[in-house]
Amino acid sequence: MNQPKHASHPAPVQCTSRHAAGHAAAVDTRKALLMTRKILVTSALPYANGAIHLGHLVEYIQTDIWTRFQKLRGHECWHVCADDTHGTPIMLRAEAEGITPEQLIERVHAEHSRDFAGFHVAFDNYYTTHSDETRHYSEDIFGKLRAAGLIEVRAIEQYYDPVKRMFLPDRFIKGECPKCGTPDQYGDACESCGAAYAPTDLKNPYSAVSGAPPVLKSSDHFFFKLSDPRCQAFLRQWTQQEERLQPEAANKLQEWLGAPGENKLTDWDISRDAPYFGFEIPDESGKGTGKYFYVWLDAPIGYMGSFSNFCTKKGLDFDEFWGKDSKTELYHFIGKDILYFHALFWPAELEHAGYRTPTKVFAHGFLTVDGAKMSKSRGTFISAESYLAQGLNPEWLRYYFAAKLNGTMEDIDLNLGDFSLRVNSDLVGKYINIASRSANFISKHFDGKLLDEHFADRFRLALPDLEFAADEIAGYYEARDFGRAIRRIMALADQVNQYVDHHQPWKLAKHGGKERELHVVCTALVNAFRLLTLYLKPVLPKLAQRAEEFLNIAPLHWRDAGHLLPPAHLINDYEHLMQRIDPKQIDALVAANRESLEPAAVSRQGPAVAAASVPPLPAAIDPHSPQRHAQHQQHTTPSPQPSPARGEEVSGGAFAPVIGMDDFGKVDLRIVRIADAQHVEGADKLIRLTLDLGGETRNVFAGIKSAYDPAQLIGRLTVMVANLAPRKMKFGLSEGMVLAASDAEGKSAGLFLLSPDSGAQPGMRVK
Ligand code: MSP
Ligand code: ZN
Repeated sequence: MNQPKHASHPAPVQCTSRHAAGHAAAVDTRKALLMTRKILVTSALPYANGAIHLGHLVEYIQTDIWTRFQKLRGHECWHVCADDTHGTPIMLRAEAEGITPEQLIERVHAEHSRDFAGFHVAFDNYYTTHSDETRHYSEDIFGKLRAAGLIEVRAIEQYYDPVKRMFLPDRFIKGECPKCGTPDQYGDACESCGAAYAPTDLKNPYSAVSGAPPVLKSSDHFFFKLSDPRCQAFLRQWTQQEERLQPEAANKLQEWLGAPGENKLTDWDISRDAPYFGFEIPDESGKGTGKYFYVWLDAPIGYMGSFSNFCTKKGLDFDEFWGKDSKTELYHFIGKDILYFHALFWPAELEHAGYRTPTKVFAHGFLTVDGAKMSKSRGTFISAESYLAQGLNPEWLRYYFAAKLNGTMEDIDLNLGDFSLRVNSDLVGKYINIASRSANFISKHFDGKLLDEHFADRFRLALPDLEFAADEIAGYYEARDFGRAIRRIMALADQVNQYVDHHQPWKLAKHGGKERELHVVCTALVNAFRLLTLYLKPVLPKLAQRAEEFLNIAPLHWRDAGHLLPPAHLINDYEHLMQRIDPKQIDALVAANRESLEPAAVSRQGPAVAAASVPPLPAAIDPHSPQRHAQHQQHTTPSPQPSPARGEEVSGGAFAPVIGMDDFGKVDLRIVRIADAQHVEGADKLIRLTLDLGGETRNVFAGIKSAYDPAQLIGRLTVMVANLAPRKMKFGLSEGMVLAASDAEGKSAGLFLLSPDSGAQPGMRVK
């Protein structure tokens, strides 16, 4: 019996157990089946300072498959999420783009929503943490924790940027590695020798924001007292009971908690000083404290905020799901990097603020591509948007991820060769093929009509497993062992294809007098295709919908596994349901995502006028995360360019979304004379330009070395963006950018600096 071990509810399997206990479980199972479960599911809230990439999609696709499965089973299941919008990186990014944080998070919200929809991730609510609801619950939970004596104020010393007048998160402090001396390393770890250290250990530290040397400064912070004996005691039992965590996660938690009697938990700094983009912390009388809730305090509370918002829209009862005695189920899907927050801070916060705690936390591993960490230089750091823009089918990826996911915290590898192979041979070759091998016979020979008799017994004789596998497959889905579900489904597809090969319908169609046999075989095949479609439906919702149209049936539910199509059912003409992957498409995808590690001279798919300079800001890094989030954050490069609309391809890539005059007017373009141009030592793409704006000069690093010799540039006029926020680069400060035209890839056709007609003078505005 293939009953999965970690199903939150016993999987409904056939009652074949010989043991009394097994029998009782099976009876319970039937009851559970009759009962409608109420389930609230969350995916982690993606940061609003970066684009969704294929790594993220491991999580959102996984959660979507699971919630679609629950819905197909007839349960009340809600999937909510939101953008995680607060924090220093978002504040600084907005500033660098010359917009407000609110404008930034609104734009990103639209981009994220578009990407999720593109991959058929169907949230019931996709909200934002920058909401009244999240503010309400943040204040509420903080207030209750304070009343419970679990909040403490303590002064701490931190690096402070005296120019920018702000405290600096670790990732915004750079300097020389204290161990190997490599310059320009972040404040938490050295990328060259791998050493981990505190920002105060860096030699010659400087602020990544202003370039100024930081100073140590003291300030009061609020702490959540995780070291309190109440938290300890609660977490020790909570993390080890009721299979709340996967076995490997529970072990990790044991490690973090330490042996009984040991107190390894440290208090958690939950506040930040202004300037900060977030919610101000109120004091007891409701007045502002001048301190802000740290992003990790309001982020998980964003789950409640999003659900509360949904309840208002839907007329649902929030307390039924979040109240202390809630009978509903609550599951958080997360990546393994944020287990500490979800299995320690979060349940401790909820428990002591009088809310229910999660039923289970499901952590997954990280995505690697071709066996290695996703990499921009190799082109394997693939954005959701570029995958779709290359015309790749989102369901190919959903299928591939499903085939690889097994409900554990192991990393999962996207092997690009294997990807095409599996999709082509299994999904198209085995499953889709069943429809294409049978449908035309039904249309041509029988006017689209299935056999006109009760068929179940014959079907079961011919393909006995097809119907009976439903419970087993459901068990695998429930346990999030999607890989096993897919293997089982493909084994069924193999059986069906053997049945085809054995009966050879194409031969039956040729010989007269075999019409009846042909009809039987093809009716069996159409029924088999229908069942396989149902089993794959959580993974392939769009394909299933098209298959349902072809089969001329109402949307399939899991209970439909219990019967076949009625006698003489009419199906529609078959149109091909899915293409194979052409390996060239994969090559193009990788090429489109390949970026040089130098600041890109040309945006990948952006507008035809490309910018030179501007390195990415370091992305949101949490200095308190035990994993420091570094593995995926340090490469998250939010594109400062507006995202292109899909479809209208020109040589410079698709056009960016329409903007108003107001937006354009914010860009201050000026004529400049290139007063000096020099090679930059150690940079193979950059030229250092000294630009004369008619009095004032600016230093700009431009990624145009592939197209220009510095000597030939001196003296000529060009156009620069004069009001771009200066950026500290490895080689010095870049104070703007010059404009150059290029094709989408920025390489084949070259780069072309703009020049004004004669008569233009340095300093003149370009409008
Ligand atoms: N904002 C936080 C989560 C707050 S939840 C209250 C965050 N955001 S994130 O954008 O960095 O990541 C969102 C989710 O995607 C996380 O669960 C993270 O683990 C997951 N992934 C991000 N990169 C990933 C891979 N390369 N592979 C698999 N999952 C990855 O963390
Ligand atoms: Zn080092």
